[in-house]
Amino acid sequence: MNLKTKHPIVIAIDGTSASGKSTNAKLVAKALGYVYVDTGAMYRTLAWHCLLKHVDVNDAKAVANACRRWKTSFECVERDGLRQVHLLVDGFYPEKEIRLKETAAAVSHVAAVPKVRDWMKKTQRDCIQFGNLVMEGRDIGTNVFPETDFKFYLDAKLEERSARRAADGVHENLAARDQRDSQRAAAPLMIALGAKVLDNSKLTSAETSGWLLAEIRKIMALEK
Ligand code: DC
Repeated sequence: MNLKTKHPIVIAIDGTSASGKSTNAKLVAKALGYVYVDTGAMYRTLAWHCLLKHVDVNDAKAVANACRRWKTSFECVERDGLRQVHLLVDGFYPEKEIRLKETAAAVSHVAAVPKVRDWMKKTQRDCIQFGNLVMEGRDIGTNVFPETDFKFYLDAKLEERSARRAADGVHENLAARDQRDSQRAAAPLMIALGAKVLDNSKLTSAETSGWLLAEIRKIMALEK
């Protein structure tokens, strides 16, 4: 809870693909006892749903229609000491399916559709019902929760980010996805005004999350 406003706190962690957002957002959420929200997973879920329903992901109107019609719900579960929000479609959480390379290839097309972004913003803001949040994505500080004082932007050199994905067994064209995410008209990936930026190319996740926690505690001390 924000001591002044009594509203839940939202820690926004944005950045490029494979810049360590998920790993570090989870570490920060665990350390603070906040709820972790992976907004990329929500876009991936819609991309997967479109592929499943044979909706052409390059047809913005068809994607917007699918997004208007799909039946979703939230669950907030605790796993390995981390509380996290999942988006379910028809009661199903497609955890493995959203990580397939077909889904990864489709997702930035789906994420560029303005009506999809409107739906996601509303849905992501609804996550506040679960309490204090650590939310990671591309537009959390710029668009979803622009009012938060806790804005971070992570980045790392392309070679380093590609190596990290390869180490996870995922080979994809990160440069192409980043370019589509940064150049789309609707809520493109960019550094939010006032965000604290970290290039973690040479840092371990313990160092990156340590930096995030130290910065968060500085802001909290100022707000007391
Ligand atoms: O973080 P990720 O790789 O799981 O994200 C999947 C895609 O979703 C990514 O290409 C960009 C998009 N995305 C977005 O546009 N806005 C967000 N807040 C989160 C993800």
